Amino acid sequence: MIKLSYDIKNYRKDMLELTNPGDCVIELGCHVGGTTRLISKDCNVIAVDNSPEAVDEMAKLEEVKFISGDVRLHEVIAEVFRITQSCDVLAIDLGGGYHPDTAFKVFYIWSSTFKPTHTIIRNRGLLEFLNSAQGSGEDYVSDEGFLDSYHDSGIPPLIKEFDLWTPSLKK
Ligand SMILES: C[S@@+](CC[C@H](N)C(=O)[O-])C[C@H]1O[C@@H](n2cnc3c(N)ncnc32)[C@H](O)[C@@H]1O
Repeated sequence: MIKLSYDIKNYRKDMLELTNPGDCVIELGCHVGGTTRLISKDCNVIAVDNSPEAVDEMAKLEEVKFISGDVRLHEVIAEVFRITQSCDVLAIDLGGGYHPDTAFKVFYIWSSTFKPTHTIIRNRGLLEFLNSAQGSGEDYVSDEGFLDSYHDSGIPPLIKEFDLWTPSLKK
């Protein structure tokens, strides 16, 4: 299942509804752990955020594996892939008003790599698109947390798309 919200209350509700004890959860954009705290005792959480504010606060959640980094970088997805090659739930909140194009690309690449059963995303633009678009009636639907049309497996060798779109990320 893929759940989309903008209101953080709905995002957290989705997180609580779709996680089960013992689940592996990859959380992208945990900030200071407001949502992480709700599930960290019961689930195995790997949380990623590039904000300096996250570092000390996330260190207080000892049971959570926190990675300080940019989720658009190949080295960050590779670091998570060394810890786990799959997850039950992928949660993405890069800021509700964050560029929907980047939020979608992050969803596409991370979900294709870790093949979650469920993905929850907090993003206003993607929700507006979902609520506004009308499909042609062709039957393309995914039951799980990633798009069925992605047939590759494992981590992409190089995330070239992000390089092309965000030259500031190049080192
Ligand atoms: C609205 S906050 C997340 C709130 C959190 N999910 C919660 O429930 O309390 C958005 C977070 O996304 C992080 N973020 C935005 N872009 C990012 C990126 N490219 N890589 C890693 N973290 C990012 C920001 O640093 C910020 O902490």
